[in-house]
Amino acid sequence: MVHARIEETIFYPALENADETRDITLEAFEEHRLVKQLLGELQSMGKDEEEWTAKFTVLKENIEHHVEEEEGEMFTKARKVLSEEDAETLGTRMEKARNEQLKAAAAR
Ligand SMILES: [Fe+2]
Ligand SMILES: [Fe+2]
Repeated sequence: MVHARIEETIFYPALENADETRDITLEAFEEHRLVKQLLGELQSMGKDEEEWTAKFTVLKENIEHHVEEEEGEMFTKARKVLSEEDAETLGTRMEKARNEQLKAAAAR
């Protein structure tokens, strides 16, 4: 959830308004939505239900697809859209947000 939130608030907004990365970014937002939906459903189900395993398999397949597309097409296009400096700044912001959110989660 932390990973997804950081992408949605820092990384994807840096890509969603550039022509080259618009479609793949909108797709990624939708994939996150689906993954979160499935996670929520899994949490409210008993693990002994047959459907839990089916849902978990679909979740796994969706995440694998998402990561493949993110690290492939999205990163390739992001390299064209972002300058070295932009990427550096985004990386620093994401790292900072990640540390803050993990710390906040641990304190809960
Ligand atoms: Fe993602
Ligand atoms: Fe990711």
